[in-house]
Amino acid sequence: MRDFGLRDKVVVITGGGGALGSAFARGFADSGASLAILDFNLDKAKATATSFPAEKVKAIAVAADVSKDDQVAKAVAEVVKHFGTIDILVNAAGVQIYPPKTLSIWNPANGISWSTFV
Ligand SMILES: NC(=O)c1ccc[n+]([C@@H]2O[C@H](COP(=O)([O-])OP(=O)(O)OC[C@H]3O[C@@H](n4cnc5c(N)ncnc54)[C@H](O)[C@@H]3O)[C@@H](O)[C@H]2O)c1
Repeated sequence: MRDFGLRDKVVVITGGGGALGSAFARGFADSGASLAILDFNLDKAKATATSFPAEKVKAIAVAADVSKDDQVAKAVAEVVKHFGTIDILVNAAGVQIYPPKTLSIWNPANGISWSTFV
């Protein structure tokens, strides 16, 4: 285990069920942090959260669409209720769409990129 001063820090990782989010989760878990794995795909969030031994890593899965303010507020409340605080936020929720030719495609992707969980 590496010591980066992250032991027992509470880390929220949006898009935590995805490739980058789950990799960030492994890194923070390795440093002793507690994890809130947030994703709008709850099954993916659970897969990341349960990939760590429960006796070593405190991790919960939280369902939320980060482009929806009400869902973000609910997720924050859920994490604070569970862990008591939030110390670190990693925004890894995102989509990649090529080419974003129409506003109906561009707006959701842009909403995640620029007005995500803060
Ligand atoms: N993987 C890379 O090498 C790489 C490189 C540069 C940029 N990116 C960008 O980083 C972001 C994440 O990449 P990735 O490879 O982990 O993608 P991914 O598809 O593996 O993971 C993204 C995760 O975000 C979740 N998600 C998407 N929209 C969401 C929303 N509105 N609310 C909550 N969760 C949401 C998805 O369910 C998924 O689990 C993407 O925007 C991608 O374009 C990735």
